[in-house]
Amino acid sequence: MKTLNIGVIGIGVIATTKHIPCLLNRNDIKIVALCDIDTAKAEKAKEDLGLKDAKVCADYMELINDPSIDVIHVCTPNPLHHPITMAALNAGKHVHCEKPLALTYKDAREMVDTAKAKGLKLTSGTQWRYNPAPMKMKEMVKNGEFGDIYYVKSSQLRPRRLPAYGVYTSKAGNGGGVLLDGGPHSIDLPMWLTDNYDVESVYGVTYDKMKNFPEANDLGPWDPNNFDVEDTAFAMIKMKNGMTIYMETAWATNLKQEAIGVVAEIGGNKMGADMVGPGFMNHVRTTKVVDGKLTTETTKIEEPVNMNQYDIDHWIDAIQNDGEPAILPEQAATVVRVIEAIYESAATGKTVFFD
Ligand SMILES: NC(=O)c1ccc[n+]([C@@H]2O[C@H](COP(=O)([O-])OP(=O)(O)OC[C@H]3O[C@@H](n4cnc5c(N)ncnc54)[C@H](O)[C@@H]3O)[C@@H](O)[C@H]2O)c1
Repeated sequence: MKTLNIGVIGIGVIATTKHIPCLLNRNDIKIVALCDIDTAKAEKAKEDLGLKDAKVCADYMELINDPSIDVIHVCTPNPLHHPITMAALNAGKHVHCEKPLALTYKDAREMVDTAKAKGLKLTSGTQWRYNPAPMKMKEMVKNGEFGDIYYVKSSQLRPRRLPAYGVYTSKAGNGGGVLLDGGPHSIDLPMWLTDNYDVESVYGVTYDKMKNFPEANDLGPWDPNNFDVEDTAFAMIKMKNGMTIYMETAWATNLKQEAIGVVAEIGGNKMGADMVGPGFMNHVRTTKVVDGKLTTETTKIEEPVNMNQYDIDHWIDAIQNDGEPAILPEQAATVVRVIEAIYESAATGKTVFFD
């Protein structure tokens, strides 16, 4: 098996907590380059993560133009996802591009189509689906245990967990707010659980009601004067088969949520299930009629799954074996299309219909 040479662009939180550590757990890759406009950050990561042979640079085109690099991981702020990925694909590199894949469906489609035309692999980072509870729920869906599924809810109402670092609260810097942060996970999870990315229509609303209340945030206070994005988004997504997805995602609320992360519930005519907190990632609670009585049962899933490692392992395996990554690029593009529709619906007050 070939040793893949990998370059990582954007050496911030997700690169140093997910991409690089999970890549380093493999013996068929070498991280050969780290790129960040803040080279001191890249140098520190190089030191901290023991990447003594990796070159550090500030200009991502140096990695794109390096013929020895096979794979690029794009971990920059969102507006750079499309231009960097396109440059990398056009240079013949496989690309893992963090979520959201792009800011617009047009751009996302271009990325998917280019990767396909060039025979290159492309994936994105909605790894939250690879936790034990959603994986168990997906297995139950596959086994037909829910019967006819007509309702799925995904919820990520963080009490106070706004990423108060980087560019998250700036429209110019991040492209949007929570809808581009928690949103991709919250939209992808119900679609992945039901293997249904066939959207009929989207109705969405967004709010920025919390921007002037920066106290008590888990990740430190934010600056309300540098905050021109939404902190909350709700959407009703109607699928072509009649199923409804209700999605709610927020960085800050005055609501008590036990879990930090995306929680899903599925409603079918034979059974319903949800994930219960605080150990929501490995607990599934089912409700159904047993012997004429409505019965609720909570099961702990014992097999551990590391969502980040799952994403990275399936990604590298897909390149090595010419297979499919866990997160399909078409799925990531549909998620972008839904995000775009939520913004449009929120601005116009109207439902957006897909063709
Ligand atoms: N999959 C997930 O669960 C998950 C979690 C967090 C973040 N993310 C995604 O990862 C991306 C980065 O988020 P983060 O939290 O790591 O942000 P961050 O601010 O910690 O890191 C971004 C880095 O990109 C660098 N950068 C900016 N412009 C650059 C350029 N032109 N060239 C090279 N580097 C550049 C910044 O200096 C910074 O170090 C975002 O798209 C975000 O949506 C995904």
